[in-house]
Amino acid sequence: MGKLDNKVAVITGSGRGIGKATAELFVKEGCAVVINDVDEHVAAETARALEASGGQVTHCVGDVTKPDDCRKLMDTAAEKFGRLDILVNLAGLNLDNVIHKMTDLQWDMAVDISLKGTFNCIRAAARYMRVEGHNGRIINISSMAGVRGNPGQINYAAAKGGIISMTKVVAHEWERFGVTCNCIAYGMVDTRLTKARESQDESADGERLGLPQKSRDTVMEKYHGRIMQPEDAAYPILYFAQPESWCINGNCLQSAMGGFC
Ligand SMILES: NC(=O)c1ccc[n+]([C@@H]2O[C@H](COP(=O)([O-])OP(=O)(O)OC[C@H]3O[C@@H](n4cnc5c(N)ncnc54)[C@H](O)[C@@H]3O)[C@@H](O)[C@H]2O)c1
Repeated sequence: MGKLDNKVAVITGSGRGIGKATAELFVKEGCAVVINDVDEHVAAETARALEASGGQVTHCVGDVTKPDDCRKLMDTAAEKFGRLDILVNLAGLNLDNVIHKMTDLQWDMAVDISLKGTFNCIRAAARYMRVEGHNGRIINISSMAGVRGNPGQINYAAAKGGIISMTKVVAHEWERFGVTCNCIAYGMVDTRLTKARESQDESADGERLGLPQKSRDTVMEKYHGRIMQPEDAAYPILYFAQPESWCINGNCLQSAMGGFC
Protein backbone atom coordinates (compact mmCIF):
# COMPACT_ATOMS: atom_id res chain seq x y z
CA MET A 1 0.00 0.00 0.00
CA GLY A 2 1.36 3.40 -0.97
CA LYS A 3 0.67 6.50 1.08
CA LEU A 4 -0.84 8.23 -1.98
CA ASP A 5 -2.64 5.34 -3.69
CA ASN A 6 -5.39 6.53 -6.08
CA LYS A 7 -4.34 10.16 -5.74
CA VAL A 8 -3.54 12.48 -8.63
CA ALA A 9 -0.96 15.26 -8.27
CA VAL A 10 0.24 18.19 -10.33
CA ILE A 11 3.80 19.21 -9.44
CA THR A 12 5.04 22.42 -11.03
CA GLY A 13 8.73 22.82 -11.80
CA SER A 14 9.21 19.06 -11.53
CA GLY A 15 11.58 18.58 -14.44
CA ARG A 16 14.53 18.82 -12.09
CA GLY A 17 15.60 19.56 -8.51
CA ILE A 18 13.18 19.27 -5.56
CA GLY A 19 10.20 18.91 -7.89
CA LYS A 20 11.71 15.93 -9.65
CA ALA A 21 12.59 14.25 -6.33
CA THR A 22 9.02 14.89 -5.13
CA ALA A 23 7.58 13.34 -8.29
CA GLU A 24 9.78 10.28 -7.77
CA LEU A 25 8.62 9.92 -4.16
CA PHE A 26 4.95 10.44 -5.04
CA VAL A 27 5.12 7.80 -7.79
CA LYS A 28 6.74 5.39 -5.34
CA GLU A 29 3.79 6.02 -3.01
CA GLY A 30 1.24 5.14 -5.70
CA CYS A 31 0.31 8.63 -6.91
CA ALA A 32 -0.42 9.50 -10.55
CA VAL A 33 1.63 12.58 -11.39
CA VAL A 34 1.53 15.36 -13.96
CA ILE A 35 5.07 16.65 -14.44
CA ASN A 36 5.26 20.33 -15.36
CA ASP A 37 8.19 22.50 -16.33
CA VAL A 38 8.84 25.50 -18.52
CA ASP A 39 11.87 23.61 -19.80
CA GLU A 40 10.48 21.09 -22.28
CA HIS A 41 13.47 18.78 -22.36
CA VAL A 42 13.68 18.13 -18.61
CA ALA A 43 9.89 17.75 -18.27
CA ALA A 44 9.78 15.09 -20.99
CA GLU A 45 12.86 13.28 -19.71
CA THR A 46 11.65 13.14 -16.08
CA ALA A 47 8.22 11.88 -17.17
CA ARG A 48 9.78 9.28 -19.46
CA ALA A 49 12.03 7.92 -16.70
CA LEU A 50 9.17 7.71 -14.20
CA GLU A 51 6.90 6.00 -16.71
CA ALA A 52 9.64 3.52 -17.46
CA SER A 53 9.78 2.71 -13.73
CA GLY A 54 6.08 1.76 -13.88
CA GLY A 55 4.56 5.04 -12.67
CA GLN A 56 1.35 6.63 -13.89
CA VAL A 57 2.86 9.80 -15.27
CA THR A 58 2.27 12.38 -17.94
CA HIS A 59 3.86 15.73 -18.61
CA CYS A 60 2.59 19.16 -19.54
CA VAL A 61 5.09 21.79 -20.60
CA GLY A 62 4.03 25.23 -19.42
CA ASP A 63 5.01 28.49 -17.80
CA VAL A 64 3.32 29.15 -14.44
CA THR A 65 3.40 32.90 -15.09
CA LYS A 66 0.85 32.32 -17.86
CA PRO A 67 -2.72 31.73 -16.64
CA ASP A 68 -3.67 29.75 -19.78
CA ASP A 69 -0.76 27.34 -19.23
CA CYS A 70 -1.89 26.81 -15.63
CA ARG A 71 -5.46 26.04 -16.72
CA LYS A 72 -4.13 23.56 -19.27
CA LEU A 73 -2.01 21.95 -16.57
CA MET A 74 -4.93 21.31 -14.22
CA ASP A 75 -7.12 20.15 -17.14
CA THR A 76 -4.39 17.66 -18.07
CA ALA A 77 -4.68 16.01 -14.64
CA ALA A 78 -8.46 15.72 -15.01
CA GLU A 79 -8.37 14.54 -18.62
CA LYS A 80 -5.57 12.04 -18.18
CA PHE A 81 -6.27 10.72 -14.66
CA GLY A 82 -9.86 11.80 -13.96
CA ARG A 83 -9.24 14.14 -11.02
CA LEU A 84 -6.91 16.51 -9.19
CA ASP A 85 -6.16 15.80 -5.53
CA ILE A 86 -2.79 17.41 -4.83
CA LEU A 87 -1.11 20.54 -6.16
CA VAL A 88 2.55 21.18 -5.33
CA ASN A 89 3.77 24.64 -6.35
CA LEU A 90 7.51 24.18 -6.77
CA ALA A 91 8.30 26.25 -9.88
CA GLY A 92 10.53 29.08 -8.78
CA LEU A 93 13.99 30.59 -8.97
CA ASN A 94 16.15 33.17 -7.30
CA LEU A 95 17.86 35.95 -9.24
CA ASP A 96 19.98 37.60 -6.59
CA ASN A 97 21.37 41.09 -6.38
CA VAL A 98 21.87 43.76 -3.75
CA ILE A 99 19.07 46.32 -3.65
CA HIS A 100 20.82 49.17 -5.44
CA LYS A 101 21.90 46.94 -8.32
CA MET A 102 18.75 44.89 -8.76
CA THR A 103 17.30 45.19 -12.24
CA ASP A 104 13.60 45.43 -13.05
CA LEU A 105 13.91 42.13 -14.92
CA GLN A 106 15.35 40.37 -11.85
CA TRP A 107 12.56 41.74 -9.63
CA ASP A 108 9.78 40.95 -12.11
CA MET A 109 10.97 37.44 -12.94
CA ALA A 110 11.45 36.34 -9.32
CA VAL A 111 8.09 37.76 -8.21
CA ASP A 112 6.17 36.61 -11.29
CA ILE A 113 7.40 33.02 -11.18
CA SER A 114 7.26 32.37 -7.45
CA LEU A 115 4.39 34.54 -6.25
CA LYS A 116 2.13 35.07 -9.25
CA GLY A 117 2.88 31.59 -10.59
CA THR A 118 1.72 30.03 -7.32
CA PHE A 119 -1.44 32.15 -7.40
CA ASN A 120 -2.10 31.30 -11.06
CA CYS A 121 -1.91 27.58 -10.32
CA ILE A 122 -4.12 27.72 -7.22
CA ARG A 123 -6.72 29.76 -9.09
CA ALA A 124 -6.65 27.29 -11.99
CA ALA A 125 -7.05 24.37 -9.56
CA ALA A 126 -10.19 25.93 -8.02
CA ARG A 127 -12.38 24.35 -10.68
CA TYR A 128 -11.36 20.89 -9.49
CA MET A 129 -10.77 21.50 -5.76
CA ARG A 130 -13.59 23.78 -4.62
CA VAL A 131 -15.91 20.82 -4.45
CA GLU A 132 -17.87 19.65 -1.41
CA GLY A 133 -15.82 17.04 0.49
CA HIS A 134 -12.89 17.26 -1.91
CA ASN A 135 -10.23 16.67 0.76
CA GLY A 136 -7.47 18.06 -1.47
CA ARG A 137 -3.98 19.18 -0.60
CA ILE A 138 -2.02 22.23 -1.73
CA ILE A 139 1.62 22.53 -0.81
CA ASN A 140 3.35 25.82 -1.56
CA ILE A 141 7.08 26.35 -1.46
CA SER A 142 8.50 29.30 0.40
CA SER A 143 12.05 29.82 1.64
CA MET A 144 13.82 30.83 4.84
CA ALA A 145 14.55 34.05 2.91
CA GLY A 146 10.81 34.70 3.00
CA VAL A 147 10.66 34.03 6.74
CA ARG A 148 13.57 36.15 7.94
CA GLY A 149 15.10 37.86 4.89
CA ASN A 150 18.47 37.36 3.25
CA PRO A 151 20.91 39.95 1.91
CA GLY A 152 20.90 40.02 -1.88
CA GLN A 153 17.45 38.48 -2.18
CA ILE A 154 14.93 41.31 -1.84
CA ASN A 155 12.91 40.09 -4.83
CA TYR A 156 12.95 36.43 -3.81
CA ALA A 157 12.31 37.17 -0.11
CA ALA A 158 9.33 39.37 -0.98
CA ALA A 159 7.87 36.68 -3.24
CA LYS A 160 8.48 33.84 -0.79
CA GLY A 161 7.13 35.88 2.14
CA GLY A 162 4.03 36.56 0.05
CA ILE A 163 3.60 32.84 -0.49
CA ILE A 164 3.36 32.31 3.28
CA SER A 165 0.55 34.90 3.50
CA MET A 166 -1.18 33.48 0.43
CA THR A 167 -1.08 30.00 1.98
CA LYS A 168 -3.08 31.24 4.97
CA VAL A 169 -5.72 32.83 2.75
CA VAL A 170 -6.23 29.61 0.78
CA ALA A 171 -6.41 27.68 4.06
CA HIS A 172 -9.23 29.95 5.23
CA GLU A 173 -11.17 30.03 1.97
CA TRP A 174 -11.02 26.34 1.03
CA GLU A 175 -11.17 24.74 4.46
CA ARG A 176 -14.90 24.13 3.96
CA PHE A 177 -14.09 21.85 1.00
CA GLY A 178 -11.70 19.79 3.12
CA VAL A 179 -8.77 21.26 1.17
CA THR A 180 -5.68 22.07 3.21
CA CYS A 181 -2.97 24.50 2.13
CA ASN A 182 0.42 24.51 3.84
CA CYS A 183 3.84 25.71 2.86
CA ILE A 184 7.45 24.77 3.45
CA ALA A 185 10.29 27.24 3.90
CA TYR A 186 13.52 25.49 2.97
CA GLY A 187 16.96 26.68 3.82
CA MET A 188 19.63 25.58 1.38
CA VAL A 189 18.93 22.53 -0.78
CA ASP A 190 21.54 21.21 -3.18
CA THR A 191 20.12 22.02 -6.64
CA ARG A 192 21.20 24.15 -9.58
CA LEU A 193 19.88 27.21 -7.70
CA THR A 194 22.46 26.80 -4.96
CA LYS A 195 25.47 25.54 -6.90
CA ALA A 196 28.45 27.86 -6.88
CA ARG A 197 27.68 30.59 -9.40
CA GLU A 198 31.01 30.25 -11.18
CA SER A 199 29.95 26.81 -12.44
CA GLN A 200 26.34 27.67 -13.04
CA ASP A 201 23.85 27.35 -15.89
CA GLU A 202 21.07 29.69 -16.96
CA SER A 203 17.30 29.85 -16.57
CA ALA A 204 15.08 29.41 -19.62
CA ASP A 205 15.24 33.22 -20.02
CA GLY A 206 19.04 33.29 -19.99
CA GLU A 207 19.43 34.68 -16.44
CA ARG A 208 22.44 33.38 -14.53
CA LEU A 209 21.50 31.14 -11.59
CA GLY A 210 23.36 29.98 -8.48
CA LEU A 211 25.02 31.43 -5.38
CA PRO A 212 28.39 33.01 -4.73
CA GLN A 213 30.79 30.30 -3.52
CA LYS A 214 31.21 32.24 -0.24
CA SER A 215 27.49 31.98 0.64
CA ARG A 216 27.48 28.28 -0.06
CA ASP A 217 30.63 27.77 2.02
CA THR A 218 29.08 29.66 4.97
CA VAL A 219 26.12 27.29 5.11
CA MET A 220 28.27 24.19 4.58
CA GLU A 221 30.53 25.23 7.44
CA LYS A 222 27.61 25.88 9.79
CA TYR A 223 26.10 22.46 9.08
CA HIS A 224 29.31 20.44 9.27
CA GLY A 225 29.68 19.96 5.51
CA ARG A 226 26.24 18.41 5.11
CA ILE A 227 23.70 19.92 2.74
CA MET A 228 20.04 19.02 2.28
CA GLN A 229 19.44 16.99 -0.89
CA PRO A 230 16.30 17.25 -3.06
CA GLU A 231 15.26 13.81 -1.76
CA ASP A 232 15.35 15.15 1.84
CA ALA A 233 13.27 18.15 0.78
CA ALA A 234 10.60 15.91 -0.78
CA TYR A 235 9.65 14.21 2.52
CA PRO A 236 7.83 17.12 4.21
CA ILE A 237 5.90 17.62 0.96
CA LEU A 238 4.75 14.00 1.16
CA TYR A 239 3.67 14.56 4.76
CA PHE A 240 1.41 17.49 3.83
CA ALA A 241 0.08 15.59 0.79
CA GLN A 242 -1.16 12.58 2.74
CA PRO A 243 -4.82 12.16 3.69
CA GLU A 244 -3.71 11.78 7.36
CA SER A 245 -2.48 15.39 7.48
CA TRP A 246 -6.06 16.71 7.10
CA CYS A 247 -5.96 18.58 10.45
CA ILE A 248 -2.83 20.64 9.63
CA ASN A 249 -3.83 23.75 7.70
CA GLY A 250 -2.33 27.18 6.92
CA ASN A 251 1.09 26.34 8.36
CA CYS A 252 4.59 27.16 7.26
CA LEU A 253 7.10 24.46 8.11
CA GLN A 254 10.64 25.80 8.49
CA SER A 255 13.58 23.60 7.66
CA ALA A 256 17.04 23.61 9.12
CA MET A 257 19.91 25.06 7.10
CA GLY A 258 18.58 28.62 7.09
CA GLY A 259 19.97 31.74 5.48
CA PHE A 260 23.43 32.52 4.24
CA CYS A 261 24.19 35.17 6.86
N1 LIG B 1 17.32 24.96 -3.63
C1 LIG B 1 17.12 25.66 -2.51
O1 LIG B 1 18.01 25.85 -1.68
C2 LIG B 1 15.76 26.22 -2.21
C3 LIG B 1 15.55 26.83 -0.97
C4 LIG B 1 14.30 27.36 -0.66
C5 LIG B 1 13.29 27.28 -1.59
N2 LIG B 1 13.52 26.70 -2.81
C6 LIG B 1 12.42 26.67 -3.76
O2 LIG B 1 12.16 25.34 -4.15
C7 LIG B 1 11.59 25.36 -5.46
C8 LIG B 1 12.34 24.37 -6.35
O3 LIG B 1 13.67 24.83 -6.49
P1 LIG B 1 14.90 23.90 -6.88
O4 LIG B 1 16.00 24.24 -5.96
O5 LIG B 1 14.46 22.49 -7.04
O6 LIG B 1 15.26 24.54 -8.29
P2 LIG B 1 15.52 23.89 -9.75
O7 LIG B 1 15.97 25.01 -10.60
O8 LIG B 1 16.38 22.69 -9.61
O9 LIG B 1 14.05 23.41 -10.17
C9 LIG B 1 13.03 24.35 -10.41
C10 LIG B 1 12.35 24.01 -11.73
O10 LIG B 1 11.32 25.00 -11.96
C11 LIG B 1 11.28 25.25 -13.34
N3 LIG B 1 10.67 26.55 -13.61
C12 LIG B 1 11.25 27.77 -13.48
N4 LIG B 1 10.41 28.72 -13.88
C13 LIG B 1 9.27 28.10 -14.27
C14 LIG B 1 8.03 28.56 -14.78
N5 LIG B 1 7.81 29.86 -14.99
N6 LIG B 1 7.07 27.65 -15.06
C15 LIG B 1 7.29 26.32 -14.86
N7 LIG B 1 8.46 25.83 -14.40
C16 LIG B 1 9.44 26.71 -14.10
C17 LIG B 1 12.73 25.21 -13.79
O11 LIG B 1 12.85 24.99 -15.19
C18 LIG B 1 13.28 24.06 -12.93
O12 LIG B 1 13.26 22.83 -13.63
C19 LIG B 1 11.66 26.81 -5.94
O13 LIG B 1 10.42 27.42 -5.73
C20 LIG B 1 12.71 27.42 -5.04
O14 LIG B 1 12.55 28.81 -4.90
C21 LIG B 1 14.72 26.16 -3.13
